[in-house]
Amino acid sequence: MMQDIAEQPGALRRLLAEGTKPISEVARAIRERRPRFVLLVARGTSDHAALHAKYLVEIELGLPAGLASPSTLTIYKARPDLRDVLVLAVSQSGGSPDLTGSVQAARECGALTVAVTNNPASPLAEAAEFHVDVLAGHERAVAATKTYTSELLALYLLLEEVGGRDTSAAASLPDLTEQLIADATGPVADLTPRYRFAEQMITTARGYSYCTAREAALKLMETSYLSAQAFSSADLLHGPLALVDREMPVIAVVSQGKARQATREVLDRLVAGGGDLLVVGDAGVIPSAAHLPLPPVAEELSPVLEIVPLQLLARELAVARGSNPDAPRGLKKVTETW
Ligand code: F6R
Repeated sequence: MMQDIAEQPGALRRLLAEGTKPISEVARAIRERRPRFVLLVARGTSDHAALHAKYLVEIELGLPAGLASPSTLTIYKARPDLRDVLVLAVSQSGGSPDLTGSVQAARECGALTVAVTNNPASPLAEAAEFHVDVLAGHERAVAATKTYTSELLALYLLLEEVGGRDTSAAASLPDLTEQLIADATGPVADLTPRYRFAEQMITTARGYSYCTAREAALKLMETSYLSAQAFSSADLLHGPLALVDREMPVIAVVSQGKARQATREVLDRLVAGGGDLLVVGDAGVIPSAAHLPLPPVAEELSPVLEIVPLQLLARELAVARGSNPDAPRGLKKVTETW
């Protein structure tokens, strides 16, 4: 897992160097078909990359978007009218039958289908009309790390290109990621004892950073076996905030963008109630909280960086708790669901 984490700058660099031309061609095909709605199909970590894509579609392209429930198409055999719909399937392996089945059904129902995967020879890539290779290289650990950040960047490049937008801000990501890994490793090791005996945890964020809260919770659950639940900071106020006490640490992801103020209001209440808070990102949002800083970057790109210290934390914590982050119990690299 550590090697996969460390390879992220190289993987992002490769995608920017070799992936942009084929991505532009897929983007052109999408533009020509003028979809009116985007439906995202994915599982697990890839579902969190898809969640980020949902924000990009809605904010940057001005189109409605939703996360699919694959069982409606596979188990229940629903056949909705998907004309004018772009179905975007995201998967590191491209190997899960329910994703492939969803894409096949979506094509039958008239959708334009695009698969974003790390395996161009996968059944999912073959089932879709178009394929985007995220070019992350072989990922060794079960817990996805570099395939996630490469999926995030590939989806960003694709969707911004569909919208005819400038993607030059992404060029800084490989160097920023490299620096971040170097800078965060020591502080993450110092923070790890804080969570060594934690049994539960909450992760929270809003807007573009929400996918990071979701992905961080998954990484912590599968490597460190602690029960981590992710909530939108807004949803925390609709009930779960009552759960928070000193035994329930909270990790908040806060980027320096439009969602910052809304998140801050929730975090103020959480700290006033005695919550144990770590802020990843903007250190100034709650100065009294522990924090892991991030380099400044455009808000829509921030998830690529935000997850890095949390991947490191999940790995460190697993080691500190005596588990093997490279081989989480009961999990395989390719998960087949129907
Ligand atoms: C978690 C992880 C899984 C996969 C999920 C989907 O670290 O790797 O959650 O993301 O099983 O797999 P793919 O992306 O291959 O469809």
